[in-house]
Amino acid sequence: MNIKKWSLFAVIGMLVAALALFGCSSGGDKPASDSGSSDNAGSTESGYTLINDGKLTVAASLDFPPFENLNGSTPEGFEVELMQAIAEEMGLECEYLPSTKFDTIVPLIQSGGKADVGVSGLTITDERLEQIDFTEPVCDVNQSITVLKDSGITDVNQLEGKKVGAQTGTTGYEWAAENIKDVEMVGFDEMTAVYAALQSGQIDAIAVDLPVGNYYVKTAYTDCEVIKEIPTGEQYAIAVSKENPELTKALNEALKAVRDSGKYDEIASKWIQ
Ligand code: ARG
Repeated sequence: MNIKKWSLFAVIGMLVAALALFGCSSGGDKPASDSGSSDNAGSTESGYTLINDGKLTVAASLDFPPFENLNGSTPEGFEVELMQAIAEEMGLECEYLPSTKFDTIVPLIQSGGKADVGVSGLTITDERLEQIDFTEPVCDVNQSITVLKDSGITDVNQLEGKKVGAQTGTTGYEWAAENIKDVEMVGFDEMTAVYAALQSGQIDAIAVDLPVGNYYVKTAYTDCEVIKEIPTGEQYAIAVSKENPELTKALNEALKAVRDSGKYDEIASKWIQ
């Protein structure tokens, strides 16, 4: 094997390693047998319904950087750019509704009429699958525990009988409630309120998705630290109404195209460390 080939292998190896670090998987879907024809799902005969013609209307809780957050009044983040790329692939405009409380998103998609999709670092769970459909996964994540740097807490077993805060209705809340002995759970609507509660001593720790915990600690709450990664092996996906299966199908095709074109990796490397 010549040097050129070896260096190509080395580059591929580095890319794979980098993706593993991002915690966002670009795998998960097998190439379709008709690959190459997935561009433009064909909005004329797509079979799906939309709240507003020509638009993909997105409901989100915009408090979950680096996945979705508000920059002033503009949504930004990994999933925001991914949704824009997916919408573009479908020949649609991507429109975000004003930020909504996280635990209202699944019911909102289930009852229909307001948004076409729910996108909010939303983990696929059996319970949610009873209410809505999910697309193929868009990202893999684990949970984590954050404490104040000077708290002396270095491990989860030190949280026994203590107060742990999390966003209401999240998998982080559920994990902590089920796995920390005699824990007293405190739920909040907004992620920023969870951090404020940690800083003011109202709670002793935060349970949150690891990339979000890392992001907040690095960029805003520098007096806090992530002490533990909890390997829950969660996968985020886009929530769609069970009444709109053709939309799920079209989103999956567009997601695949965004992956195949390299756009997915481009967006992931911009937002996720
Ligand atoms: N992944 C977790 C869940 O699905 C937390 C998501 C919180 N999302 C947000 N945008 N605040 O329950």
